Amino acid sequence: MCAEFRRGPLLRRFKKLRKVVGTNSIKLRMTSVQLTPDIRFELGHCVQRLATLADESVRAFYLDPPFDSDRIYTLSATSAVGFSDKWKDDEYKEFIQSVIDAAYPKLAKDGTLFFHISAERMFIPETILRAKFKFVSPIFWKRCRSKNNVKNKLGSTIDIVFKCSKVATPLFNVVFQDKDEKYLANSFKNKDDRGNYALGHLVTESTKKGHMYGFTAGGKTFNPAAGWRIPKTELEALAADNRLHVPKTAGAKLYKKIYLSENPGKPCTDLWDDIHSIGQGKEERKYPTAKPRKLLERIIAISTNPGDLVCDPMCGSGTTGAAAAALGRRCVLFDCNPDVAEIVRGRFQVAAATS
Ligand SMILES: C[S@@+](CC[C@H](N)C(=O)[O-])C[C@H]1O[C@@H](n2cnc3c(N)ncnc32)[C@H](O)[C@@H]1O
Repeated sequence: MCAEFRRGPLLRRFKKLRKVVGTNSIKLRMTSVQLTPDIRFELGHCVQRLATLADESVRAFYLDPPFDSDRIYTLSATSAVGFSDKWKDDEYKEFIQSVIDAAYPKLAKDGTLFFHISAERMFIPETILRAKFKFVSPIFWKRCRSKNNVKNKLGSTIDIVFKCSKVATPLFNVVFQDKDEKYLANSFKNKDDRGNYALGHLVTESTKKGHMYGFTAGGKTFNPAAGWRIPKTELEALAADNRLHVPKTAGAKLYKKIYLSENPGKPCTDLWDDIHSIGQGKEERKYPTAKPRKLLERIIAISTNPGDLVCDPMCGSGTTGAAAAALGRRCVLFDCNPDVAEIVRGRFQVAAATS
């Protein structure tokens, strides 16, 4: 049974609902909802729902379970929408183990499972994930700016998203992080007719065969001690296309121009500091602990191709479904909280009406 059902507000809510509308109606609410031809939601305990998926059919899982925070989450002081995150003894560990055991066989051989957790509680799933997966690496999500209301501890700003795979080279697409203002101002300060550009290195520190040659550009001859990074033909092509930055200072290096307009950004690293949590961004929060859509879009873009199946076994407000729909992936969402069915349905109706 769903941990949230066993105790706390969900059980009380469920009992109240059963009294008001009768068991049959509740059963109706508990069936699956086809949100779009490619996105499905099913209400129920995720371990049971996961058992219905075909083995190795899921290219990417996103798991965002309760974090063992010893709190009850509600949307607001006046709203009961939410879930309990209170656990006894080893209950939490056992729950996470059961979810990972159920998800593992459903993950494609070249697929990726992302597991989201607070930095404070990361040690619990990490042990379980490392025992199950051969390859586990953390992504550090800086979800918010520093907090100015913290008095006796360091402000917590980081969540961990463990990236887990069965093989060393799962499907991986390079994605780019947004160019931040400081980076743009510092890096692209030179300008010519084509626009602003940054300086790209051309000289090397370790000599390569065939890359030792002298080169003349802008009336100056350059003869770097350890040679060039590229062969002479490539350097000539850059010169012919006016893509060389000739220094004014005597003895300075020759660089290639990297134009801002042609630069897609920085390839994504394992530190994600360019996505704000819902509280600090523009998105409206429809569910406590809802994650920003941009976070899920990045996770899905990295690990899947269009048409692939994504699964979120504890979907909350359905952020993963919305991101999957935006990127043309198929998605199956589970959650055991009856509140969620309405929120997810509403989210897709709103999207359909406004798109
Ligand atoms: C942190 S929230 C997920 C938030 C979600 N990522 C979003 O963007 O809205 C965790 C969710 O796990 C659900 N949950 C907890 N135990 C579950 C279980 N056994 N099966 C399915 N869902 C469960 C809760 O109802 C809650 O909605």
